[in-house]
Order: sequence, then C-alpha cells, then structure tokens
Amino acid sequence: MAETLRDVADRHGVRIGAAVAADPLRTDYQYRDALGEFNAVTTENALKMGPLCPSEHEYDFRDADVIVDFAREHDMYLRGHTLVWHNQLPEWLLPWQYTDAELRRLLRQHVRTVAGRYAGTIDAWDVVNEAVADDGGLRETPWLRAFGEEYIDRAFEWARKVAPEATLFYNDYGADAINDKSDEIYELLSGMLERGVPIDGVGLQYHALHDHVDPVSVAENVRRFSDLGLDVQITEMDVAYTAATAPPDRREQQAEYYGEVVERCLEAGCDTFVVWGVADHHSWLPHFDETLTEDPLLLDDGYDHKPAYDAVRDALE
Ligand code: XIL
Repeated sequence: MAETLRDVADRHGVRIGAAVAADPLRTDYQYRDALGEFNAVTTENALKMGPLCPSEHEYDFRDADVIVDFAREHDMYLRGHTLVWHNQLPEWLLPWQYTDAELRRLLRQHVRTVAGRYAGTIDAWDVVNEAVADDGGLRETPWLRAFGEEYIDRAFEWARKVAPEATLFYNDYGADAINDKSDEIYELLSGMLERGVPIDGVGLQYHALHDHVDPVSVAENVRRFSDLGLDVQITEMDVAYTAATAPPDRREQQAEYYGEVVERCLEAGCDTFVVWGVADHHSWLPHFDETLTEDPLLLDDGYDHKPAYDAVRDALE
C-alpha cells in the first residue's frame, strides 16, 4: 500500500494536520478514514467561545470531546483553537450589556475553564487569534475595550497557569510573508517575550486566496520568528483562486504552490502544516467568499488525492 502523508511526516519528524469538525467525524466513515492521512488535528469550530457556550452559565463540550477523543485514540498532535477571539462569540454575549469588569471576569473564567479542562490533552493552544487590525494597531474588540492591550498578556498567563504543558500560540492571518502586518506582530510578540509573557509560538494561518504571497518571503518570515525562539507553525492553509480568472491548469499550479511553501518553510524551521479542512467539500471558503474556486485543499470531494496532495508528500519527503 502507498504511504500516507502521515507515514512520510512521521518518518521525518514533522506534522501534517487538518482542521476537523465534529459532525462528519460522527457520521462519515470516509472522513474518519481520510484522517489517517494526518498526524495532527486542529479543532475547526468546536472550541470557539460561541459554539462552546450556549448560555452564560453553561458549557457544551460534546463536539470538542468527539474531536479530542479521536485525536487521542489515533495518537495525533492536537491544536486547540481558540481561547480569545473577536469572532464566533456567543449570541448572548452582547458586549454593551456588560461592564468592563464583567467582561474581564468572563474572559478570565473562560480561558481558565477551557484550557484547564484539556490540560495534559491539548498539545498546543491558539491562545489569542487575530488581535492585530489589518490597518495597524490592535483590533477593536470587546476584550480590548474591557482590558486595554494587556488582555493578550493576561490570556497567555492564565492559560500557562492552568495548562502548564501546552505550548501557547498567537495566531493570525495576512502575516504569512514579510509585510506591515507581520512586522507589527513581530513587534508585539518581541515585546511579550521581553516582558516574560509565556508565549511559545506563532501560528501563520496562510489562507492563500486571490493573491498568493511569495514563498521566499514566507520562509524569511518563518525564520525571523524562529530566531526569536518561537515555534512557527502554518496553522490554516488553503490555496484558492479567483474563479473568474483561474488558470485552466490551476490544480497543477496549486500543487506547485503548496509544494514550494512546504519545502521552503521546512528549510526555514517550520515543522507543522495544518490545512483548513479534510477534503474540498469541507472548506469554509465557499461560505466566506463566493468568488473563489472551491477546491483549496489536498483531497477532492471524493476524498481522492489531488496533485496538491502529491506535491505536499514530495515536499515532506
Ligand atoms: C472558520 C471556520 O472554518 C468556519 O466553519 C466558520 O464558519 C468561520 O470560521 N480564521 C480562523 C478560523 O482563525 O477560526 C476560521 O475558521 C477561518 C479564518
């Protein structure tokens, strides 16, 4: 039998992962089989605050546990996503109905509850997701309003305290290559390290949508974060094209791009690549932006290997 991506990754001591959802894991045996290709899992939605907290005094861990149990059973590296974010907040959490002090208590309690529950089980946490605004500065969020900028440091401290063995990441998009946003994140994380904040890594989401950044610049970016002593992971990769102008050989171009990114990032010291979905029909992108092609991942709608799959396997090899 041909080797899986996982076989190759395991042999080289690197990780290849996918974002995983609870529903297909429960119902689709092909989905479970396809997960045999990966040695790492990120919880796609199940650990976000909204899905986890149906009401203010209630947690529903069922979806998260389905994913966590599967990952443990299959000896997969498990990335928890995400403790502090401005999106997918619970519907009951209408920030203007809460005082700053209440919001502070809520967030502290949330991080401690969730990170604490999975202490010793979840290997890595995206503690804070997308805190930097696209036009510079910190993004306006309920958490920034309630705490000022210190919410980021505090979140890492709470997580470290309740889950001392987990590696703790700052995760963001649009910061894959060297650019203004990644410069700003570089400054932010350098400052945190100087202050002694317990941060271990940076997650580069890497949604390559209409524009595909230069992998050479991505590698340079990986290297500078790595030189800070941070673990650098590609956390949410997908590669799409503008549907109206997509090249006829886009599957081959997509493969080449995936392959080059993985190869250059490995050389630059990144050892973990997570794609944002198992097969094309699970991708979030058609819901996010309908002008994109709908085939951004490594496996097609029938769970068959795409050229991108072969390219990633070759790159890992
Ligand atoms: C996406 C999920 O894939 C979708 O199912 C959900 O509807 C919206 O969120 N950056 C992130 C991820 O950090 O959490 C997002 O995931 C994609 C962009």
